[in-house]
Amino acid sequence: MRLIIHHIKELFGILDPEIRLLRGKEMGQVGSIKNAYLYVKDGLIAGFGQEGDSGYQLILQEETELKFVDAGQGLVLPAFCDAHTHLVYAASRELEYVDKINGLSYEEIAKRGGGILNSAKAMANASEEELFESAWHRLQEIASMGTAAVEIKSGYGLTTEAELKMLRVIRRLKENSPLLIKANFLGAHAVPPDYRGRQHEYVDLIINEMIPLVAAENLADFIDVFCDQGFFTVEDTDRILNAGMKFGLRAKIHANELARSGGIQVGVKYNAISVDHLEFTGEEEMELLSQSETMPLILPGAAFFLHMPYAPARQMIRYGLPVAMASDFNPGSSPSGNMQLILSMASILYRLTPEEGFNATTINGAYAMDVSHETGSISIGKRADFYITQPIPGLAYMPYYYGSNKVSKMFVKGKELSF
Ligand code: NIG
Ligand code: FE
Repeated sequence: MRLIIHHIKELFGILDPEIRLLRGKEMGQVGSIKNAYLYVKDGLIAGFGQEGDSGYQLILQEETELKFVDAGQGLVLPAFCDAHTHLVYAASRELEYVDKINGLSYEEIAKRGGGILNSAKAMANASEEELFESAWHRLQEIASMGTAAVEIKSGYGLTTEAELKMLRVIRRLKENSPLLIKANFLGAHAVPPDYRGRQHEYVDLIINEMIPLVAAENLADFIDVFCDQGFFTVEDTDRILNAGMKFGLRAKIHANELARSGGIQVGVKYNAISVDHLEFTGEEEMELLSQSETMPLILPGAAFFLHMPYAPARQMIRYGLPVAMASDFNPGSSPSGNMQLILSMASILYRLTPEEGFNATTINGAYAMDVSHETGSISIGKRADFYITQPIPGLAYMPYYYGSNKVSKMFVKGKELSF
């Protein structure tokens, strides 16, 4: 299948295929071509340039079965890479949301048995079929808003059986969806009520029973821990990441959302692909990150929804660090997978320029889920994961015109999706 997307007002996100992430000042640059075309061959990006240039002429001469797609003077952007979600869940939690509006904190709700434990109760009774159906619907929704790669966590099971159930649902999503999906095993999301006061034993269960079974069925790409005040300690996290590593599971963890918990340090120690949330991050942590291969991943939706402090994204970029941003799509702290909204939050709440926000949600997001060699930019040989926007003036309009869907056509691996 060969496609030419033409009549593109501007093609954005052009990057050397060898580049895996952008840091510091580099994040302010986005390669682009005006009046462009994009050539797609067998699901991969095979060429691009200015419409009518010599490359374009050659394609027209040599290819007999070309399909033309008229971009209608829309922009073409590489699809979003959403590197942190919990989009497999059994039930929404809008009642707690009302409690939050009335003044209860996230931690207070969790202590009363709400929050993650509330989701775990619903998970225990949900069938794989129901979970698959509802998650499928959410995948369709995020794809229609421009996401082509997504990381999905377990963590609402909290028993061996229910954690495996969640991961099998994610595997089924991988098998059936054209989207690029990565699975993250988050057995250590909260301590289940039966283990209250015996947290250590729950950590033992994760290490001795869950991790070996997850690995035996090859159900996860990463291992996660909610390393934070009131949840899992640095010692718990160290033990779990160490055990995961022995089974080939790379760390990708929740850190420093509720306090300066030491989560970044333990993540870097295990060469985590990313450390996520980071509301409570100081200079010491930034220095450590600057000497590591770990991506700082910020989740604007959760900080916004929970009315919490914002992670120091600007300082990180000034420090020369890379920054990625993701949706954290989940029923408790961020019930939205809309990455266009994340782009707006990047600018409005974190003062990132449109270019920096764009890089944080595409190539750097791809790095944070270990797919930046496959997707996340317009580069020859990468998957043709991109969208055509409505006819809008330029890149800055994406975060500026917030809250509405600017995607007019969505392509994953060179195929247009229909919704
Ligand atoms: O990323 N911080 C921990 N976990 C999720 C929240 C999950 C929930 O409340 O259901 C998060 O925000
Ligand atoms: Fe999360």
